[in-house]
Amino acid sequence: MELKLRGMMLGWFLCFAFGFASCRSEEGLEDFGERESLLSYLESDAVSSSTSQPLMVGLTLIQGAAANGAVCLDGTLPGYHLDRGSGSGANSWLVHLEGGGWCNTVRNCVYRKTTRRGSSKFMEKQLPFTGILSNKAEENPDFFNWNRVKIRYCDGASFNGAGQDEAAQLYFRGQQIWLAAIDELMSKGMKNADQALLSGCSAGGLASILHCDEFGTLFPKTTKVKCLSDAGMFLDAVDVSGGHALRSMFNGVVTLQDVKENLPSTCTSHLDPTSCFFPQNLVSNIKTPLFLLNAAYDAWQVQQSLAPPSADPHGTWTDCKMNHARCNSSQIQFFQDFRNQMLEAIKTFSRSDQNGLFINSCFAHCQSERQDTWFASDSPLIGNKGVAESVGDWFFDRATVKAIDCAYPCDKTCHDLAFTH
Ligand SMILES: *[C@@H]1O[C@H](CO)[C@@H](O)[C@H](O)[C@H]1NC(C)=O
Repeated sequence: MELKLRGMMLGWFLCFAFGFASCRSEEGLEDFGERESLLSYLESDAVSSSTSQPLMVGLTLIQGAAANGAVCLDGTLPGYHLDRGSGSGANSWLVHLEGGGWCNTVRNCVYRKTTRRGSSKFMEKQLPFTGILSNKAEENPDFFNWNRVKIRYCDGASFNGAGQDEAAQLYFRGQQIWLAAIDELMSKGMKNADQALLSGCSAGGLASILHCDEFGTLFPKTTKVKCLSDAGMFLDAVDVSGGHALRSMFNGVVTLQDVKENLPSTCTSHLDPTSCFFPQNLVSNIKTPLFLLNAAYDAWQVQQSLAPPSADPHGTWTDCKMNHARCNSSQIQFFQDFRNQMLEAIKTFSRSDQNGLFINSCFAHCQSERQDTWFASDSPLIGNKGVAESVGDWFFDRATVKAIDCAYPCDKTCHDLAFTH
């Protein structure tokens, strides 16, 4: 399946589906309404691939959070969506961290206050639970009857910031939000969990890596605790102009939101804080079992880290980055080099028996929450195994899962994001 979108809609899609940093342009601000409606279209499209109406789960604001300074960028209360488990899943907990880009300047953090990514005033009051969050066994065979939680993302620093900017009335409280949400879930029964999985996609996938060991230490040794990062392997890569577009952006996030104090000291003791926001410098030191689910040609990274507009001022990569079928051989080679960096970044990590991998050779981004990529009749496979089965086999120790597909174009099961214009 391909999502075909007209080029004029591309920017809106990129901004709002993935919360791209490029949303900060003036033009972007003016187009807010239309971009939102396109996102709604895309979300309903993704959901319609579900076999039945998805469960809608209501937003709960964390009432006690403000007392601990755990507030969204604009000072409003953070929140989450919880669907209670039942039967054999009554004491099992899936905690999923929402993604949606980052804010790296006062200006784009101020803009974010006017969106659901920076204020609970603008959050949907209900969200559909699909893929790994689905409550139906036929859509989500291993986790459907667990307690399933989606924690909303409203801090702009992958649940890791601290401090505030008085003049701009911005609160950087990602770490406090994480703690407040976990605290509330523990009091709602998670403290008795016999199994728990921390997951997240994109900026939330990075957050699930950053908070994985903290999550692990919440529980006694008798609890099976693991973490899943979906599309969270953001690489410190060189872009098409020879610069470091993503590194500069992350540097802004880490500096502005004082992320340093919350990063693992095993990394900050020998590397600078911005490097320690990159998973490649973290994953091999994480003690809690971790699964990395990532497209080798992650669509977000292709568009925003490798060939962002700032690195491609003449737009020579525009066609190729919107649809890989339009790339010439040297552009494909650039992506192959990126895949090789990805494989290099997970080499040590993959040697540990407790870790899992599903690195498919697709141009995709976030494959655990979409029903069509998580568990459907035509879902992406490596060998003969799909995403849901791979994650389940790893979590329940049914099998070792270290799946890395051969390089593009070998995978014919991808659900690539492609754009026409
Ligand atoms: C591929 O396209 C890029 C960008 O337009 C161009 O710079 C490069 O020379 C092309 N390479 C080949 C092999 O055609």
